[in-house]
Amino acid sequence: MRDDRQQKNNKYSAVFHAPFHPTSAPMYIAVLWQLVLGGLLVSVAAATPKRSRRQSGASNVPSQFVTTQNGKFVVNGSALKVVGTNAYWLHALNTDEDIDNTLASIAAVGIKVVRTWAFNDVNVIPQNGTWFQLVANGTTSVNTGPNGLQKLDTVVRLAEKHGILLHMALTNNWNPLPLVDGPDGFTRRDVTKGTNNKFPRNTLSNDYGGMDVYIREFNAPRKHDQFYVNETLINAFKNYTTQIVSRYVNSPAIFAWEIANDPRCNSTLPAASTCTTTTVTNWHSTIAQHVKSVDPNHLVSSGNQGFFCVDCPKLFPSTPTPPTPQVSSAPGTRRRGLPRFLTKARLLQDRTEALKKTRNLQKRSSPPAGGVKVRGRWVATPTRRQDDVGVGSAFDGSQGVDSEDILNIPEIGFGSFQLFPDQVSYGPVDPNLPAFNNTVQTGIDWIKRHAEAGLAAGKPVSLVGFGLVTQANLPFFVPFNTTVGPDQSTSSLSTRQDQQAIGVSDGQRDDAYSQWLNAGLLAGLSSMVQYQWSQGDLTEQDGTVVSSSQTETGVSSTVTGTGVSPNDGYGINGVGQVDAQDTISEASQAFGSDS
Ligand SMILES: *[C@@H]1O[C@H](CO)[C@@H](O)[C@H](O)[C@H]1NC(C)=O
Ligand SMILES: *[C@@H]1O[C@H](CO)[C@@H](O)[C@H](O)[C@H]1NC(C)=O
Ligand SMILES: *[C@@H]1O[C@H](CO)[C@@H](O)[C@H](O)[C@H]1NC(C)=O
Ligand SMILES: *[C@@H]1O[C@H](CO)[C@@H](O)[C@H](O)[C@H]1NC(C)=O
Ligand SMILES: *[C@@H]1O[C@H](CO)[C@@H](O)[C@H](O)[C@H]1NC(C)=O
Ligand SMILES: *[C@@H]1O[C@H](CO)[C@@H](O)[C@H](O)[C@H]1NC(C)=O
Ligand SMILES: *[C@@H]1O[C@H](CO)[C@@H](O)[C@H](O)[C@H]1NC(C)=O
Ligand SMILES: *[C@@H]1O[C@H](CO)[C@@H](O)[C@H](O)[C@H]1NC(C)=O
Repeated sequence: MRDDRQQKNNKYSAVFHAPFHPTSAPMYIAVLWQLVLGGLLVSVAAATPKRSRRQSGASNVPSQFVTTQNGKFVVNGSALKVVGTNAYWLHALNTDEDIDNTLASIAAVGIKVVRTWAFNDVNVIPQNGTWFQLVANGTTSVNTGPNGLQKLDTVVRLAEKHGILLHMALTNNWNPLPLVDGPDGFTRRDVTKGTNNKFPRNTLSNDYGGMDVYIREFNAPRKHDQFYVNETLINAFKNYTTQIVSRYVNSPAIFAWEIANDPRCNSTLPAASTCTTTTVTNWHSTIAQHVKSVDPNHLVSSGNQGFFCVDCPKLFPSTPTPPTPQVSSAPGTRRRGLPRFLTKARLLQDRTEALKKTRNLQKRSSPPAGGVKVRGRWVATPTRRQDDVGVGSAFDGSQGVDSEDILNIPEIGFGSFQLFPDQVSYGPVDPNLPAFNNTVQTGIDWIKRHAEAGLAAGKPVSLVGFGLVTQANLPFFVPFNTTVGPDQSTSSLSTRQDQQAIGVSDGQRDDAYSQWLNAGLLAGLSSMVQYQWSQGDLTEQDGTVVSSSQTETGVSSTVTGTGVSPNDGYGINGVGQVDAQDTISEASQAFGSDS
């Protein structure tokens, strides 16, 4: 504990204060920004933001809605850079007071943005708890009652009260089937105590309905990408978005509408072989236009994981207004003549250079594993050439996502991506680095790539979810595509692509988070949203997101007290909570003073 904390503080001083040794972080950041971006930022604060259509009659009042200008978020006439947290379960809490207390605690540590679910689909009306939309037998109906959209109204109203901006996700890629299907193939998840499906409804982020509910209940062909191509389903989803989005057109608490969490070709329902990046990009364009037509005030973003598709054909090869500020060639800036889109050649070249760098560092201390001495110098023995291993599934479009193409859709206001190294591989293992450092470094590279994609597109970019599973959280870890944690059945989850066992120490988590936050700040990300918040002292009721059975099954045993929010493996609670919140809170200040 103490050691962890010490380590974290050292990390911060190393990261935020070197090499200028200024008296304050903001000063360092100001110097750095001049170096990195040249004149890009100079006029942002003074600039008049683009007025929203709604306000176009008004005179010089800056918009209190979040807009974008020169690749930055702008609100009330000033640039906005923020750190946030995720709380998908906010609307499902049992009382208004619980929602109020949660947002108050979040605001109290200096967090300005919360990403949350603005959907809760059911195919049977539940006895207890919140639900927004019944999707059953080919029809939909929205619940506007006190356990329906009035709960979302409360979230929005209380966010306004606490000065918090909301990323509102409109659906989810993931809604796994129960372990054992019923005769119709689609029995609802069995939450009987003592079964593996132990989680009360809405405990997991993938238990709020989503795309596959529409596919099942409309009896469409059982392919996940029907949601993207079938007119019936597209219209049903448009109908839902209209009702949600139109409800909050005038709320300044909406940061942005996020089209979906992690949209891609596959889910637990497989994709048709015809599903490609083009399919998913086209769908984004359709939905983004629709949302903008209902609500011209707020930004729209994708919510995808940020996968690249190198050398792929683009549907949106350029933005209508190319980024005007030219990146200067001052020392320390990005290379001139950067390709418009990431290419395979560039990716492999960057990887080769990075390997060379760590190998040289390593050589100074010790011979590389399997190395041989040639004319007095250590060189690594030949390994597989990078070309032979390909670019990897985060870069080859195999998930059906081309985040650069999606970012260029005119109605998409800013880029979004996610960082979950326990579930996704972001690059090859560097044999010269310890496993934990690989995890941190591939994350930093991923962050830089997305910041660069944002600069190329002239739009801000937000990391809308990042997290690492700790040892303490390992028993609660449930991947987004399953309903059962690794403690129950899945030994295959014990390692991941970078060959580090899943489950770092609390101190390593905080170290990784601060390094990622710092990398995002330096690279020019506009917002970074940690996954996820934990809240205690909430009202319990059986059959809801906060129920006593949750504590009985040990779901949240690391949290002191009763009435705790769900923990899917990323909740920060127990003994490490204060340190982790400090990490986020300090980064939030650094981002805020960089606006
Ligand atoms: C914008 O200004 C309004 C009015 O002063 C204020 O209530 C609101 O909190 C500001 N928005 C942000 C994001 O700071
Ligand atoms: C859907 O149809 C099935 C079979 O006809 C019926 O049992 C069920 O009650 C219906 N569900 C709803 C929510 O209407
Ligand atoms: C749209 O949603 C409303 C309210 O939920 C519902 O009554 C109506 O049937 C839906 N229309 C279509 C075409 O799905
Ligand atoms: C689209 O889905 C509907 C069910 O909602 C189904 O009847 C129809 O066959 C599907 N269309 C195609 C082209 O698969
Ligand atoms: C998508 O699902 C299919 C069928 O389940 C599987 O064969 C394929 O490997 C999956 N693709 C990806 C990218 O996960
Ligand atoms: C690995 O990471 C740790 C913790 O951040 C750091 O102290 C150490 O210097 C790193 N090692 C290498 C070889 O980069
Ligand atoms: C979930 O995703 C992981 C990583 O892509 C994959 O290995 C695993 O098979 C998937 N599990 C299910 C149940 O789809
Ligand atoms: C719904 O709540 C009531 C009152 O707390 C409780 O008695 C009942 O068991 C709950 N229903 C379910 C399905 O959990």
